[in-house]
This record gives sequence, structure tokens and C-alpha cells, in this order.
Amino acid sequence: MEQNIIVEIREAVALVTVNRPKALNALNGLVIAELLATFQALGEDLEVKAIVVTGSGERAFVAGADIAEMSGFDSEQALGFARTGQRLMNCIGALPKPVIAAVNGFALGGGLELALACDFAYASENAKLGLPEVTLGIMPGFGGTQKLGRLAGVSRANEMVFTGKVLSAAEARDWGLVNAVFPAGELLGKALETAARIAGNGLIGVACAKKSIKGGLDLAEPDGMEYEAELFASLFGTADQKEGMGAFLEKRKAAFTGA
Ligand code: CAA
Repeated sequence: MEQNIIVEIREAVALVTVNRPKALNALNGLVIAELLATFQALGEDLEVKAIVVTGSGERAFVAGADIAEMSGFDSEQALGFARTGQRLMNCIGALPKPVIAAVNGFALGGGLELALACDFAYASENAKLGLPEVTLGIMPGFGGTQKLGRLAGVSRANEMVFTGKVLSAAEARDWGLVNAVFPAGELLGKALETAARIAGNGLIGVACAKKSIKGGLDLAEPDGMEYEAELFASLFGTADQKEGMGAFLEKRKAAFTGA
């Protein structure tokens, strides 16, 4: 049987591919559980410093939660499904290393929510991004209504969610959903290149910066400043701080150990 999730580790970068091309990589309960286990394991793997997630094939990143599976749910099952999906998205947000989405086609519903759960996204020119849940008589359930407004502004989130409209890659870039758009053949290389650049930096500093930016969004600015100062201070005395600053003063390239 084909694996639903393929993980390739190249030096310090892990590439996670959702591999259900016959269903345009739609997320059923099993795939969500496997993705959660994959991200949890990569979070603990000290050799991995950055992660890229993409979809297999040329058509889709992830075309949403699995509609066939959801169609028979009652309300209790739907609550469990939403919580399971949200656990995955929260796990990605809490990982002590960056996760980049390489959106290589349709990113709809739960697929866009997966991209929004990542630290940032790049898209291919053929990508299509949207939250079309209301066209199915439901609404987003894996964090879309919470994350989109924070990222793109509430008015744009309202328009996208209420209409179910699907954005082109260029529109998604203009709305702040993706950082950059590349020709399809270049997307993965660009995402891996950025991940490798991050992986060359001190992992603890990157992890604390992720925590500070993410945690700060939920705080008033003075509290966010205090949170930042504490995280900044926690880095002093680490091997990476000594190596990074020592290397600068000795005019050589730093070799970080992530300790
Ligand atoms: N769930 C289950 N199967 C899906 C799927 C999904 N989200 N998206 C696509 N598929 C399947 C199709 O059923 C089809 O399977 P068969 O070949 O067995 O019939 C296969 O993938 C190919 O899809 P299409 O034939 O539909 O391909 P297309 O090129 O005509 O259209 C598409 C592509 C526009 C992406 C269309 O498939 C589509 O609209 N998919 C659904 C998108 C969507 O509504 N996603 C949101 C889901 S709800 C959600 O995610 C809730 C949440 O927030 C948690």
C-alpha cells in the first residue's frame, strides 16, 4: 500500500509530502493522525532544523478535509474531527523549528488551513487557495476562521469565508497568505533553499524567535516586549550564542550545534 505521508531528510531539512494524489491529497482522519505523528517526531529530531510540507503530484497541495469521510458525520463526530485537525495545526505552530508550506496547487479548506498553520508559505503560479466550506453547507473547522483574519485582515477573511471564493497565487500573495510565488518547477527548490538557509542558523535562537513572534500575537504590546526580553535573555549562555558571537569576532563562519 502507498504511504500517505512521505518524509525525506536532506541534511538538516525534512521534506514532508502528503501523498494521496487520487483524492488530491485530501485529509481524512488517518492522514491527519499520520501527519501529527510525523510532525511530533520531526519536532523531537535534533538533526532536523527546518521542515517543508507539500502535496504529491502537480495538481494539489491539499484539496481539503476528506468530504467523503465527513459526509456521514454527526455533530459529535464532527467535533472530534475538528479537534483532531486543530491538534495537528497547533502542533505545527508549537514546533521548536520553522515549517514552510510549499503550496503546489489546490489549497482548499483544510488544505489552506494546513498552509496557514505553517510559519509561512510559498506558492506555485498554478496554486488556488480558498476556504470553500460554505459551498458544502459547513464552515472552516481546522483554524481557518481564527487564522485568516489575523493574517489577511478581518474584512478579507469575511469575504473569503462567506463567499467561498478561490484566490489565484498572485491574489493570495497580495492578501498576505503566501510570501512569494514561483513557477511550478521552481517552487520546491525555493522552499528547500529557504529552509536550508534557516537550518544554517542557531536552532535555539530560531525556536525562541518563533515562540516570541507567535506568542506575541496573543499579547498586548508591553507584555509582548517583556516576553521577547525573557526569551532573548534565555539565549545567553547557550553554546549557540557563544559560537555565533565567537565566530563573528574571530571572522569565521559559525558552526551551530543547536545547544
Ligand atoms: N475530499 C475528498 N475527495 C476529494 C476532495 C476532498 N476535499 N477534493 C478532491 N477529491 C477527489 C474527488 O472526489 C475526485 O475523486 P474521484 O476521482 O474518485 O471522483 C478526485 O479527488 C479528483 O477531484 P475532481 O475530479 O473533483 O477534480 P477537478 O479537477 O474536477 O476539481 C477541485 C478539483 C476543484 C479541487 C475539486 O476536487 C474540489 O472542489 N474539491 C473539494 C474542495 C473543497 O471543498 N475543500 C474543502 C473541504 S471541507 C474542509 O476542508 C472542512 C474543514 O475546514 C476541516
